[in-house]
Amino acid sequence: MTARVAILISGSGSNMVALVDSMAGDHPARPVVVVANRPDAAGLDKAAARGVPTEVVDHRPFRGDRAAFEAALQARLDDYAPDILCLAGFMRVLTGDFVSRWRGRMLNIHPSLLPKYRGLDTHARALAEGEAEAGCTVHEVTPELDQGPILGQARVPVRPGDTPERLAARVQAQEHVLYPMVLRRVAAGDRRPVHLP
Ligand code: GRF
Repeated sequence: MTARVAILISGSGSNMVALVDSMAGDHPARPVVVVANRPDAAGLDKAAARGVPTEVVDHRPFRGDRAAFEAALQARLDDYAPDILCLAGFMRVLTGDFVSRWRGRMLNIHPSLLPKYRGLDTHARALAEGEAEAGCTVHEVTPELDQGPILGQARVPVRPGDTPERLAARVQAQEHVLYPMVLRRVAAGDRRPVHLP
């Protein structure tokens, strides 16, 4: 059976594009909707250009009422009956209620080698610590921020003279390889972690 995948974005959606483009041919999943919490998210046009339905659930009118925002988000998702939810640069913290509802079916990509550097500004923090390598992690989403079971990691060497921007660009290139690999495995029912390179 083909798994139905919804992708949540807030910005450029480069990971979303990598996921959508990967779900073709004999892939065990198909994208059913891309949802943004910002009407100006650049990824919306990219999804539409690929023939994927798009939706906007703007968080701002909810004025910090996370439960009400999530109820609206859930209602919109229900219209598409997704089996798997992929967070791809989705910049809202989700409540325990929402996360519990999707337990085991919601994935996220985080730009560090978790458990190191949970939260924001991961590349600047890794450089400040003098790390020799950085990378990215795909994990299951659980109520504890950036702490769910790890489904895949890609390692990227830090180079002399790296800035957060340069490092981020190299890590992102690996995000676009790792996330589709993990989604394909998970959609096929295989949760063994992927390790790159
Ligand atoms: C990525 O670096 C991802 O790791 C982080 O947010 C960024 C999203 O970029 N969670 P994009 O919208 O996929 O281009």
